[in-house]
Amino acid sequence: MNIILLGPPGAGKGTQAKRLVEKYGIPQISTGDMFREHLKNQTELGKKAKEYMDKGQLVPDEIVIGMVEERLSQPDCEKGFMLDGFPRTVPQAEALDKLLEKMGKKIDHVILIDVPEEELVKRLTGRRTCKQCGMMYHVIFKPPKVDGKCDVCGGELYQRDDDTEETVRNRLKVYNDQTKPLVDYYENKGLLRRIDGMGSIDEIFERICQVLG
Ligand code: AP5
Ligand code: ZN
Repeated sequence: MNIILLGPPGAGKGTQAKRLVEKYGIPQISTGDMFREHLKNQTELGKKAKEYMDKGQLVPDEIVIGMVEERLSQPDCEKGFMLDGFPRTVPQAEALDKLLEKMGKKIDHVILIDVPEEELVKRLTGRRTCKQCGMMYHVIFKPPKVDGKCDVCGGELYQRDDDTEETVRNRLKVYNDQTKPLVDYYENKGLLRRIDGMGSIDEIFERICQVLG
């Protein structure tokens, strides 16, 4: 099964992807995580991406597309994949279509997680992430059992540089301007499945599983 998780920053794409990976056994491909991994390893690509990420802007299409193309050609994607945070522009979606056609594959479902803007700001400014395993927490909505430590691996929790209120507002604007057109793009292809993203993490997981079957 080949899935795209679509939705604004903070909608819960990463949170749900981590659970879907366990249930469906297909890899999560998060372009944001890939850039953060590059940055951790101090690669040129990572340093370049950071310039855009810190301002809440999108990394240029050609950089992202090249990175995804390489990732999708890896053997663990044979049985399916879950794209999280890609595509994010119409040119990225068109490039993905071409790439999948070349590979003899297609997208089965595009899951749009819908959450109102003020809730997104709350979710992002309170988010904490594990340095070691990437698990997401929230200071109010999903606090860790021990303050500042990951429940799963005991790693240290940190706040992402782009989760300040000012950058979050800009990311939401960029989403509305550049990513929202993908809702129509995939609706026209008959692939879009809308999920109400308000409620508990478990409830939303159930809604997605119902759609995926
Ligand atoms: P990326 O890392 O992809 O960030 P994003 O899309 O902005 O999404 P987030 O990770 O912020 O949110 P999420 O939906 O995964 O929410 P989460 O599950 O964490 O991208 C970062 C940057 O990289 C971009 O700005 C751009 O610069 C660059 N980039 C990446 N991909 C790119 C591309 N394709 N093209 C160009 N540039 C690209 O949840 C958020 C919080 O809410 C957490 O604290 C969580 O615990 C909490 N939460 C989750 N669900 C619930 C719930 N149901 N109730 C209450 N709280 C909840
Ligand atoms: Zn951890």
